[in-house]
Amino acid sequence: MGIEDYNISEENMPVHIAIIMDGNGRWAKQRRKPRLFGHNAGMKALHNTVHLASDMGIKILTVYAFSTENWKRSQEEVDGLMRIAVEYFMKEIAELHRNHVQVRIIGEKSRLPKDVQKSADNAESLTKDNDGLILNVALNYGGRDEIVHAVREIMEEGTAPGDVTEEMISAHLYTRDLPDPDIMIRTGGESRLSNFLLWQNAYTEFFFDDIWWPDFDDDAFYKLIEAYQQRNRRFGTA
Ligand code: FPP
Repeated sequence: MGIEDYNISEENMPVHIAIIMDGNGRWAKQRRKPRLFGHNAGMKALHNTVHLASDMGIKILTVYAFSTENWKRSQEEVDGLMRIAVEYFMKEIAELHRNHVQVRIIGEKSRLPKDVQKSADNAESLTKDNDGLILNVALNYGGRDEIVHAVREIMEEGTAPGDVTEEMISAHLYTRDLPDPDIMIRTGGESRLSNFLLWQNAYTEFFFDDIWWPDFDDDAFYKLIEAYQQRNRRFGTA
């Protein structure tokens, strides 16, 4: 099915979509394959989603690729995910650049392996002036960690406690110049936030889908936009 088979209006498109790409491990297990096989398939689903979002004129996509808690996974899986990150930044970057995508990393980059930092820096600097889709890749990202960092910076700037505002905190997050997500979707059947964009998701519409991330395709994406457009957003008003 194509986009014309869905009840999607161009008027009410989300600007910013955040995704928790969950279910790679179970997708692989079902196929009696190692977990990394699932993460590789997840990278392909990401490739497709970035294309689609970009084609549909979505402005910002923020994806959770590696959390501050993911270091607790086996060394083999951590190493594999880091390899996939490098591969993503090296192999996809030319095409992303061609499609005017601007790549940004959100998270504590300094703790990542040097080759990941290097390929990520390279992807960011090559695409920094692009005016298409902004792709935030969350790597070693934690929502609480991000807020702690913001508060530290504000204090270091000598701000008096009574002068601290919500806008000031927003302006010290990794997403400082971007609007908050309209949609937060988590695939893989779990209904939790797992420390993702804690501050930014205050008024976001949440969607939880049973589909495993490697199976997330065009139809799943269109279905999501359609469901979003049926929601009535009130931002705290009556
Ligand atoms: C969660 O599924 C997924 C991750 C921790 C990694 C997500 C990574 C990708 C989609 C690959 C693209 C990555 C980069 C760096 C660009 P899970 O392993 O928790 O799945 P499970 O819950 O079924 O075990």
